[in-house]
Amino acid sequence: MPAVVIVGAQWGDEGKGKATDLIADRIDYVVKFNGGNNAGHTVVIGDEKYALHLLPSGILTPGVVPVISNGVVIDPEVLMEELDALSARGIDVSKLVISSHAHIITQYHRTLDKVTERFLGKRQIGTTGRGIGPTYADKINRVGIRVQDLFDESILRQKVEAALVQKNNLLTKVYNRAAIKTEAVVAELLGFAERLRPYVADTALELHQALEANKVVLFEGGQATMLDVDHGTYPFVTSSNATAGGASTGSGVGPSQLKSIIGIVKAYTTRVGSGPFPTELFDESGEFLRKTGFEFGTTTGRPRRCGWYDAPIARYSARINGLTDFVLTKLDVLTGLKEIPVCVAYDVDGVRHEEVPVSQSDFHHAKPIYENFPGWSEDISKCRTFEELPKNAQDYILAVEKLSGSRISAIGVGPARDAIIVRHDMLAI
Ligand code: GDP
Ligand code: IMO
Ligand code: MG
Repeated sequence: MPAVVIVGAQWGDEGKGKATDLIADRIDYVVKFNGGNNAGHTVVIGDEKYALHLLPSGILTPGVVPVISNGVVIDPEVLMEELDALSARGIDVSKLVISSHAHIITQYHRTLDKVTERFLGKRQIGTTGRGIGPTYADKINRVGIRVQDLFDESILRQKVEAALVQKNNLLTKVYNRAAIKTEAVVAELLGFAERLRPYVADTALELHQALEANKVVLFEGGQATMLDVDHGTYPFVTSSNATAGGASTGSGVGPSQLKSIIGIVKAYTTRVGSGPFPTELFDESGEFLRKTGFEFGTTTGRPRRCGWYDAPIARYSARINGLTDFVLTKLDVLTGLKEIPVCVAYDVDGVRHEEVPVSQSDFHHAKPIYENFPGWSEDISKCRTFEELPKNAQDYILAVEKLSGSRISAIGVGPARDAIIVRHDMLAI
C-alpha cells in the first residue's frame, strides 16, 4: 500500500488535523515530517477538543503508530508536556517513534527567535516565537543538535559549546543580552534523555518496512504551501518544506511511494503573521469570517487575518504538491452570506495575472479580481451528502473545483468529527 500525504494548500490552519482524523481509522502509521510546535491542530471528538502541536493528529486514533521523523524540530519540554497531557486524557502514546536524526530546539533557539523578531521591527515575520527558524538555520549551518546527541554526553557538550561561541557573541554584542552557559543547556537537555530514549528509532527503516508489509502510512504536514521556505511567500514563511516533497526528504521515504496527495483548503483564506495576502478583508466581512469561523490561532491565540477564497493560490498548491484531491473545509462558515466573492486572477499594476506572480514585489501589489457567487442561508451542518446541500452551495463547490486544479473530494460542514461530506474515496488509487 502506498503512502498518503496531507498538506495545507493556503497559509495554514485549513483543518489538516480534522482531515487526518477523517481517514485515521484506515491508516497504520501517521508521520509528522516538518515543522515543530509552531503547528496547532484542533480536533473535536464528541465533547472533547484536542489541540496538538508537536504530535501528529493521528495519535488520537487507537492502533495508529505516530511517528516524528527526521524533518521535524523537537522541543523536548513541549513534547513531554504534550505526551503527559494526552496520557492524562486516556490517549495511548506508548507507540510513538521518534527519529534519531530530528533536530532539537534549545533555549538559545527560542531566545534568538524572539530577539531577532524584535530587531526586525516593522519587517518582522510574526513568528510563533518557538525557536523554529533558528533551529532549522543551525541544521543547515551544520551546528545543530540532533536527538541522538542527547545519548552521548561528551559529543553533546562539544556541539553545544561550538554552537554557543557564535551565538553568545551575537547575543551579548549585537542584541545586548546575557550569554547562555553551555552547562545550563547541556544539563537541561540531558534531563530529557532518559524519557526520550524508549521512543527513539530508525524511523526511515521502520517506515520502509511498514510500506513493504502493505501498511498504510499517512504523512501529516504542518504549516502549508504558502508558508513553505522554497515555494511560499518568502521571507514571510516558516523555515521548513511544508509541501508534499518535504514528506520525502523529511522522512526518508522515497517520492515514488507517495501516491495520494491531499491538499486541505478552507472555503475562504486565513493567515497568521506578516506577509502578502491579496484577498485580505479589513471590513465587516473579514470580521464575520473571523467570528463565525473562530479564527484565532491554536498555538499563539492571535486573531487570524481573514479573506476570500483565492483560486490562483489553490491552483499553485495543486501544481507544487501534485495534488490528487482537495478537502474543502469550513463551508458552513459561509452560510448566511448573500454573495460570496472568489478571487479568480490578480491585477498587478494594471496587468491581469491568471497565476500567482513569480516576483514577490508583484505579489505584494496584487489586487484580487473577483467573481461573485450567490450564497445560501440554510443550515448545512447536518448535510452528509453533496445532494443534501442547497443548490447555491453545490454550485459554489463546483465553481471552486473548476478553478482550483484538482477534484474536491470532501467538504467540511462543521468542526465535529462527522461533519463532513465525502464525494470521492481519497485512498483509492
Ligand atoms: P490545522 O492547523 O490545519 O490542523 O487547522 P487548525 O486546527 O489550526 O484550524 C482549523 C479549525 O477549524 C479547527 O478549530 C477545527 O476544529 C475547525 N474546523 C475544521 N474543519 C471545519 C469545518 O468544516 N467547519 C468548521 N466550522 N470548523 C472546522
Ligand atoms: P499549522 O500547522 C499558521 C506562521 C507564523 C509566521 C510564520 C513563521 O497549524 O497550520 P515560525 O514560528 O514557523 O517561524 O513562523 O509562519 N506559522 C503558521 N501559521 N498555521 C501554522 O501551523 C503555522 N506555523 C507557522 O505565524 O507567520
Ligand atoms: Mg493550525
